Amino acid sequence: MEVVVVIVGAGPAGLATSACLNLHSIPNIVLEREDCSASLWRKHTYDRIKLHLGKQFCALPHMPFPPHAPTFVPKNGFLSYLDNYISKFNSNPFYNRNVESAFCSKDKQKWLVQAMNTTTNVLEHYVAQFLVVATGDNSLGVVPRLPGLETFRGEYMHSSQYKNGRKYINQDVLVVGAGNSGMEIAYDLSSSGANASLSVRGKVHVLTKELAYLGMSLLQYLPCKIVDPIILMLQRLHFGDLANYGLQQPENGPFYLKAITGQSPTIDVGAMPKIKAGDMRVYPEISKVEGNKVVFANGKVDQFDAMIFATGYKSTVLNWLKHEDNLFNNDGMPQQKFPNHWKGEKGLYCVGFAQRGLAGISKDAQNVADDIRRMWKEKVMTDQFDNTPKLCYS
Ligand SMILES: Cc1cc2nc3c(=O)[nH]c(=O)nc-3n(C[C@H](O)[C@H](O)[C@H](O)COP(=O)(O)OP(=O)(O)OC[C@H]3O[C@@H](n4cnc5c(N)ncnc54)[C@H](O)[C@@H]3O)c2cc1C
Ligand SMILES: *[C@@H]1O[C@H](CO)[C@@H](O)[C@H](O)[C@H]1NC(C)=O
Ligand SMILES: *[C@@H]1O[C@H](CO)[C@@H](O)[C@H](O)[C@H]1NC(C)=O
Repeated sequence: MEVVVVIVGAGPAGLATSACLNLHSIPNIVLEREDCSASLWRKHTYDRIKLHLGKQFCALPHMPFPPHAPTFVPKNGFLSYLDNYISKFNSNPFYNRNVESAFCSKDKQKWLVQAMNTTTNVLEHYVAQFLVVATGDNSLGVVPRLPGLETFRGEYMHSSQYKNGRKYINQDVLVVGAGNSGMEIAYDLSSSGANASLSVRGKVHVLTKELAYLGMSLLQYLPCKIVDPIILMLQRLHFGDLANYGLQQPENGPFYLKAITGQSPTIDVGAMPKIKAGDMRVYPEISKVEGNKVVFANGKVDQFDAMIFATGYKSTVLNWLKHEDNLFNNDGMPQQKFPNHWKGEKGLYCVGFAQRGLAGISKDAQNVADDIRRMWKEKVMTDQFDNTPKLCYS
């Protein structure tokens, strides 16, 4: 099948790109390995998740959230927003298509994409002038290789497999990682009657969602170096000194850190009061596991029934994108720094790799669609005057 643009991934990034291209009347298809759109949100997030950021920072291009939607939209609200988005902009993702390889033809004119139709087990071939990678930076959950982890007698899993705390009542559960997922899962476990603890490596800023919201609103008018100290002062008034509870704060302020490294502040949904009250323990990083004992970097040893690894994700684009050495680095993340991260050579683009959440996705999708429109117009013009036969397929 030949089409102008192939988009890989039907998460928010792929859907936003398809919508923007449709508005420009540029033919495109979206290939998605799972049987639904936004599989991360539909299948691989816990039940209680809400958007961590206010709704005006999470909308995709050309469609704000409805006025009656709550400021912090819950999972189901976000999914129905995405369903409406798909029908409003007439995107029609091809589901059950796992893209297994994509490479540029020898004459560098076209992208050749192979996708496994996982219902029929037949390899399908697509040919496109432009290829948009929208497979996300959370394509695969990462569990660290801890010494002795294979000896652990309890159950352990990545945060993307955690749904709710029902089966952990009265169990001692260690949540590893104090990012948004880790803190929220620890809170969820604790509220479900588990004895939840956190293991924290490195430094982290913790904000309330109101403070994050205030910070992001102020940033529209003021620079980080003014907003950060205001937010940190209010944070200290709210939580006290987090170091007293085993949480070290980074030297750089939360929004500056986000801008330079992509590391988000953690937005507390209720774990902090439990930590302060002593109902939830905070441990440093794990140094090894021995049976059901976990040994921490400070020498402390404790027993746990289960561990949940909220230790992040990685991009898997290099598993299928071949012979491309310009857009992505060895981690499958953009080589160029924001805001120059989204365009490669020969009609290759990425959307959703800026580590700037849904707002970043929205911006990338518009940039990419506008660029494709410009390139496509040029190409259509030159092709009209170019009579040499095209030998595109290698
Ligand atoms: C737990 C969690 C909470 C978050 N909360 C927020 C928030 O509140 N606000 C915010 O702005 N951001 C948030 N983010 C960050 C980001 O906005 C979301 O992760 C968002 O879903 C990313 O969209 P995406 O389309 O780039 O990637 P994804 O949603 O991961 O979509 C990528 C799609 O590509 C598909 N795919 C992958 N490989 C292939 C292949 N080889 N072939 C075919 N299809 C493939 C996947 O199945 C998936 O459906 C959160 C992230 C996580 C993990
Ligand atoms: C898979 O291939 C079959 C046969 O070509 C086709 O009818 C179907 O739509 C394809 N996709 C899925 C998701 O089954
Ligand atoms: C909670 O778990 C920790 C770690 O296993 C344990 O030391 C502690 O005694 C437990 N607390 C309760 C109340 O069971």
